[in-house]
Amino acid sequence: MYGWGGTMAVQGLIDVGTVVALTAYLNKLYGPLTALSNVQVDIMTALVSFERVFEVLDLPTLIAERPNAVAIPRGPARVEFDGVAFSYPAAGEVSLASLESIGVPDAPDVQTVLSDVSFVAEPGQLVALVGPSGAGKTTMSYLIPRLYDVRGGAVRINGIDVRDATIESLQNVVSMVTQDSHLFHDTIRANLLYAKPDATEEELREALAGAQILPLIESLPDGLDTKVGERGYRLSGGEKQRIAIARMLLKAPDVVVLDEATAHLDSESEVAVQAALKTALAGRTSIVIAHRLSTIRDADQILVVSEGRIAEGGRHEDLLAAGGLYAELYRTQFRTPKDPSAPTE
Ligand SMILES: Nc1ncnc2c1ncn2[C@@H]1O[C@H](COP(=O)(O)OP(=O)(O)OP(=O)(O)O)[C@@H](O)[C@H]1O
Ligand SMILES: [Mg+2]
Repeated sequence: MYGWGGTMAVQGLIDVGTVVALTAYLNKLYGPLTALSNVQVDIMTALVSFERVFEVLDLPTLIAERPNAVAIPRGPARVEFDGVAFSYPAAGEVSLASLESIGVPDAPDVQTVLSDVSFVAEPGQLVALVGPSGAGKTTMSYLIPRLYDVRGGAVRINGIDVRDATIESLQNVVSMVTQDSHLFHDTIRANLLYAKPDATEEELREALAGAQILPLIESLPDGLDTKVGERGYRLSGGEKQRIAIARMLLKAPDVVVLDEATAHLDSESEVAVQAALKTALAGRTSIVIAHRLSTIRDADQILVVSEGRIAEGGRHEDLLAAGGLYAELYRTQFRTPKDPSAPTE
């Protein structure tokens, strides 16, 4: 432009001003032209992102309701494990293929977590699961509300395979209190109403009282409207679990699955949690994973889980007398001479 325009200007054909103006215009034109040529790149990037988004949206849910699912009737419930085998889904089954290919080198073989687990919890019975860490107790508890599907055998409630039941009825019948209860960053009231949106003030108080936590809540300046969770009022582990129990009481399920977290409770809150549990479990079919054997001495059935199998089962006295794994676990826990419940020998 300068070369051509300069020559023309020297020859007197156009003004120098015109040359300067033309080059300025040309600069203005370049910007939009470059942007226009980049549009294709932008569109391609967006298309790739769309592909990823749709891949996530199209991912089939692992737990899906069958078309002809039936509702589990409410009332006393019988929980049955019939030759259950289980392993956690491999990475490829639960995540995106396109991410797997770049993220994880080669997923290791799936490990069998449970094999041939069979037992029956009759209506109203308390079945306790004990055993070493990593034995598969928590995993067994996940199968009752169908958080995962079994690989073999079946889990039945009142004779209905949980895979044939409607998800909603399953959620109403089974209630879980986990090892680490989660509270939303919201008021205590909101955290409780989550279980029963139309609960009255009276019902909330009753549930909190049953869970042995009403006095503490009432002593807070905002009472039920105190914010808890991450940035709110920090409840201790035992208090959180009691709120979770109150939530469960509100829901009034027929089957209670409880993963005890007494391991990190001081003895005072442990007593409170025990009292709360007594109310919560009364008259319900309960599956309790116990870490403190003192809590389950009265269980109708104690199942000792070891390496994904039920090693032995029975009542406390029988298992102690049998001198197997349970007797060994019991002795390890109660060896401290200060414990008044320790066996005398
Ligand atoms: N989400 C998961 N994905 C894959 N494997 C898992 C998963 N959760 C647990 N496991 C494996 O399953 C096995 C059983 O774990 P589980 O949590 O059932 O043990 P547990 O008996 O509850 O132990 P603890 O007494 O410590 O709570 C363990 O070997 C563990 O590594
Ligand atoms: Mg566990």
